[in-house]
Amino acid sequence: MAPPDPILGVTDAFRKDQSADKLNLGVGAYRTEELKPYVLEVVKKAEKRMLERGDNKEYLPMEGLAEFRSATVELLLGKGAAAVKEGRVATLQSLSGTGSLRVAADFIAKFLPGTIVYISKPTWGNHKNIFADAGKGVEWREYTYFNPETVGLDFAAMKADIEAAPKGSIILLHGCAHNPTGIDPTREQWAEIADLVQAKGHIPFFDVAYQGFASGSLDDDAFAPRFFVERGLEVIIAQSYSKNLGLYAERIGAINMVLSDSGTAQRVLSQLKRIARAIYSNPPVHGARIVAEVVGNENMFEEWNEEMQMMAGRIKTVRQDLYEHLTRLMPEKDWSFVTSQIGMFSFTGLTPAQVENMTSKWHVYMTKDGRISLAGLNRARAGYLAEAIVDSVKNA
Ligand code: LMR
Repeated sequence: MAPPDPILGVTDAFRKDQSADKLNLGVGAYRTEELKPYVLEVVKKAEKRMLERGDNKEYLPMEGLAEFRSATVELLLGKGAAAVKEGRVATLQSLSGTGSLRVAADFIAKFLPGTIVYISKPTWGNHKNIFADAGKGVEWREYTYFNPETVGLDFAAMKADIEAAPKGSIILLHGCAHNPTGIDPTREQWAEIADLVQAKGHIPFFDVAYQGFASGSLDDDAFAPRFFVERGLEVIIAQSYSKNLGLYAERIGAINMVLSDSGTAQRVLSQLKRIARAIYSNPPVHGARIVAEVVGNENMFEEWNEEMQMMAGRIKTVRQDLYEHLTRLMPEKDWSFVTSQIGMFSFTGLTPAQVENMTSKWHVYMTKDGRISLAGLNRARAGYLAEAIVDSVKNA
């Protein structure tokens, strides 16, 4: 038997729980204040237009839908980005974040054999599997990221680890709203990381899963990858539309490789297509059409931005509520990390035994690393969650 998945396995366990109190804060999926899944209004509009047009279901090319590919790279790198104008970006539509990361991992296994991928400690529960399973296995190691004492970024140790990595390593970075910690480098720190990466000839690889969803602004959330690209570095960037457009099950995303010239970009794209062909042949069309439709229509694009701000705003509100309840119940502890972290998660610092108490006694489902998805919480249950956390901290 394979072990349960550290994130999706939590949802499986949640489904089996009969308690009326149960809360699923495991997987990062947005819920409304009523804790119901949310389909964006703008997605419904796009789908209606697609239905009226009677779009067919023919195969897409291996690299994906042309309108999606141009929309996605422009959203990522910004309107008029030099790298796009110069034809230096190889963009392949793929299966959301995971599929895009996996295509890149297979590319690394095939064309950069022996290169080590450095992953933040901690990181998203699936990163290690993705690299370990690609090709004959891509070696990964960890760089320090989190400081449990300050519940913040251990920037000095992070830099030292990137510095010590063999020249030409791949450094996997989270574009914004680091998963699971919710702690991002500042803009000044990003500049220092870019200096270091450039000096060591490393290849930066950004996982961008929350563009627009973390802060409510597509541009602010794309700051880090754009900064590296504008520096003239070759950069790998995976994108997902699961969270920001709520297209979780449509499996829509992209892998972008920004290269030094257009000839290389063409050759790299040909190889990415070859890799995709052997894994899943060509990508699904529905989500790609939705993204192209929303981005290509000024009114819908505007509406999407408003809906993203609404979602990001709701998460900020429950963050604040949780902070206030925790402070009321246990004023002797500093809970300010709850409101300083950003994105959909809060990294609570709860130990595995405390997490076990959260689930067995309080029916709160969360990942074992102590991460909770605030997107799965509402204002009505914030007090209950705070009680569960305080009980676990004090008694487990
Ligand atoms: C998460 O971190 O909860 C999400 O990205 C969902 C997943 O695929 O793990």
